Amino acid sequence: MKDFIYDIGTEIYFGKGAVNNLGAAVKKHSAKVLLCYGGGSIKKLGIYDAVVNQLKANNIEWQELSGIEPNPRVTSVREGVRLCREHGLTAVLAVGGGSTIDCAKAVAAAVSYDGDPWDLVAKKADIVSVLPVFSVLTLSATGSEMDPTAVISNMDTNDKIGLKHPDMRPVASFLDPEYTYSVSKYQTASGTADIMSHIFEIYFSTVKSAYIADRMAEAMLKTCIHYGVTAVNEPENYEARANLMWCSSLAINNLLTYGKGTPWSVHSMEHQLSAYYDITHGVGLAILTPSWMRYVLRDETVDKFVEYAKNVWDIDCDGDKFATANKAIDKTEEYFKALGLPSTLREVGIDESKLEIMAEKASRTLGSVFVPLNKDDVLNIYKMCF
Ligand code: NZQ
Ligand code: ZN
Repeated sequence: MKDFIYDIGTEIYFGKGAVNNLGAAVKKHSAKVLLCYGGGSIKKLGIYDAVVNQLKANNIEWQELSGIEPNPRVTSVREGVRLCREHGLTAVLAVGGGSTIDCAKAVAAAVSYDGDPWDLVAKKADIVSVLPVFSVLTLSATGSEMDPTAVISNMDTNDKIGLKHPDMRPVASFLDPEYTYSVSKYQTASGTADIMSHIFEIYFSTVKSAYIADRMAEAMLKTCIHYGVTAVNEPENYEARANLMWCSSLAINNLLTYGKGTPWSVHSMEHQLSAYYDITHGVGLAILTPSWMRYVLRDETVDKFVEYAKNVWDIDCDGDKFATANKAIDKTEEYFKALGLPSTLREVGIDESKLEIMAEKASRTLGSVFVPLNKDDVLNIYKMCF
């Protein structure tokens, strides 16, 4: 196991009525906030009213940044920064899914930077200080509610890049599983695939000695498998929504990474698909993951896949390791289909015209992953997905 410092600072208020704690928690840090949300689902659901009532009851002033896009754009970040400066806002409050939370985090990091926020995303400048971030989660998927990352897109350059700073981890997040009852089947399925992918990215690592992290990862994968299809078919099943919500946060809040963190594989390939074709993140991951697994299955990795087969899918190893590994990969693919997700790039409107450039960009960060992948490897994986 590698050395680590455990530091997961986000306060989580979990359960029915969690939002009732919001005003008091925010007030400890700020009396003037930027309220961030997306295309308006929170207004239909009564979540907006609940949040605003909390702000009013605690004498917290606010300005609004609305219309934040799925795959949030740097243009929204710029607008948020403008509002914060103009009105002297001292905290950001995101109400929504990962896109809204990510945009809010990027605003929080960019307010104190004089240049264009994209400089921070593109690593041309360092983040110096970050406004306190709060989130009310409405979609279980990205784990942004408890992690220090934001992923921002620039559609002018077809770039989608993650930025990260310890202070971007929300100070407090409010997780009410009932707030996810209205999430569509498609987004529920996609979110479940995203959570599973976060776990895979850590589970399939070059570090082989983190037994405790691997057993926790398997428990989380089993949780997604157990409840994902249920949540798709029974949107108001509290138990399913609650387990997925907590799993979303735990999968990526560093708990699994401690002792075994390595760079990720499939996310890098997916972010190119979203950057060029604006597809839903979890859907891209569900399409890529089985092909990636088949591509990286080899003598050096087969034991890890057998472990996955045995401990996650309860598959007996009959002696032929590769057959067992392949059964587990088939199960993974079948599960994504059972969630109702597409399984080919063509189904989501992607053709072969941009594969080269996407493969080149994705491969830039894939030199020291579970199985290192160069441009040709990525191209092969993309091609397997048609
Ligand atoms: O825009 P609104 O009205 O909010 O509607 C959203 C959006 O259309 C809707 N929605 C959210 N909550 C709802 C709801 N609809 C009905 N009822 C509710 N309760 O769902 C749609 C998708 O929302 P979005 O926030 O885009 O989804 P998600 O949470 O999957 O976030 C995806 C983004 O996060 C990034 C992805 O790349 C993508 O840009 N990621 C962020 C990560 C992080 N911060 O650590 C890691 C991830 O790997 C990922 O890259
Ligand atoms: Zn993800």
